[in-house]
Amino acid sequence: MKIAVFPGDGIGPETCAEALRVLHAIDLPDVQWMEGLVGGAAWRATGHPLPDATIEVAHACDAILFGAVGDFACDQLDRHLRPEQAILGLRRELQLFANLRPVRAIPALIDASALKPDIARSIDMLIVRELNGDVYFGEKGRRQTPEGLRQGYDIMSYAEDEVRRIAHVAFTAARGRRGAVTSVDKANVLETSQLWRDVMLEVAREYPDVTLDHMYVDNAAMQMVRAPGHFDVVVTGNLFGDILSDQASMCVGSIGLLASAALNGSGKGLYEPIHGSAPDIAGQGRANPLATILSAAMMLRHSFGLEAQAATIERAVYRALDSGARSADLGGQDTSVQMGDAVLRALEVEMA
Ligand code: NAD
Ligand code: IPM
Ligand code: MN
Repeated sequence: MKIAVFPGDGIGPETCAEALRVLHAIDLPDVQWMEGLVGGAAWRATGHPLPDATIEVAHACDAILFGAVGDFACDQLDRHLRPEQAILGLRRELQLFANLRPVRAIPALIDASALKPDIARSIDMLIVRELNGDVYFGEKGRRQTPEGLRQGYDIMSYAEDEVRRIAHVAFTAARGRRGAVTSVDKANVLETSQLWRDVMLEVAREYPDVTLDHMYVDNAAMQMVRAPGHFDVVVTGNLFGDILSDQASMCVGSIGLLASAALNGSGKGLYEPIHGSAPDIAGQGRANPLATILSAAMMLRHSFGLEAQAATIERAVYRALDSGARSADLGGQDTSVQMGDAVLRALEVEMA
């Protein structure tokens, strides 16, 4: 097992450190650990947010545990030098087109949800976000209007093969769950979305045992707080998926809780919390590391087939929360290290 760790910026190194303690505490086959610089940290050291050396490690390893990138001091750099290009570049370079973002109610945290308890309790969905296309990767730039005004533009597009492959991921996932896919788009306005919807309907014919419904993204945002229990698998494009998953995190209780896997369909994966580098709390030891710890669990499951170990880590996280561990985002005062300690103690119980 070759595992690369790219901690990145801000709270990334703080949350990765706790996830590594957990991985070291669990029974794993031989691991070859690798590391790499990404984001603002890489830019400061090498002049580029995604140095060649890091790309080489990314190709050589089986899986990447990724912290976060983003550094306000870099926000005025040319776009290709900004920290975010590291994660976008890795997603593109490794063709990590399928982003799985599980969103599940955690019994101990029902009170942390922004929703009423009965609504919060009903949440159990998987957001399947397309990660290689959409307005993220289209042509973009600046130009002038005929009147000589500055104009910015970003081209939104999806080709049918891009939609088809993410559709298969969503329908396959639904078969292992409650058998319902909701495709979220904006087909009433966007041609990109109409194509998306047409292809979803075509692929659905291959999965007669799975139901498919469609929802406009504005309605989906509303339904996600009104009746999130309605959703089983939510499949959507890159931009809508980005926004809806941050919203979904607060339905569960905190952005510091949601993990993700970015997969390319051949086993390789990049695993990261859905949150960013949180510059407002970076360096204070207050970040919630659970999203990164749960991302490490997803790595064991999806890249290495270590279901038992993955489930053990997840149970340990829930046990730690049951025992009262609470970081600041969850209304408590535990530090990142104390949260890690609580998970390690719970792991001992789980593995006894
Ligand atoms: P953010 O997710 O970093 O932070 C949003 C808010 O949530 C902040 O108040 C932060 O303190 C809080 N928060 C986030 N994670 C937390 C955690 N684990 N524990 C406790 N609180 C947490 O989003 P932002 O502020 O919009 O972006 C900051 C930077 O991160 C930007 O440069 C952005 O581009 C980058 N970013 C990177 C990734 C990534 O690396 N995948 C994801 C999102 C944002
Ligand atoms: C995420 C982040 C990234 C995205 C940024 C940092 C490029 O918000 O992983 O959710 O928009 O995909
Ligand atoms: Mn995001």
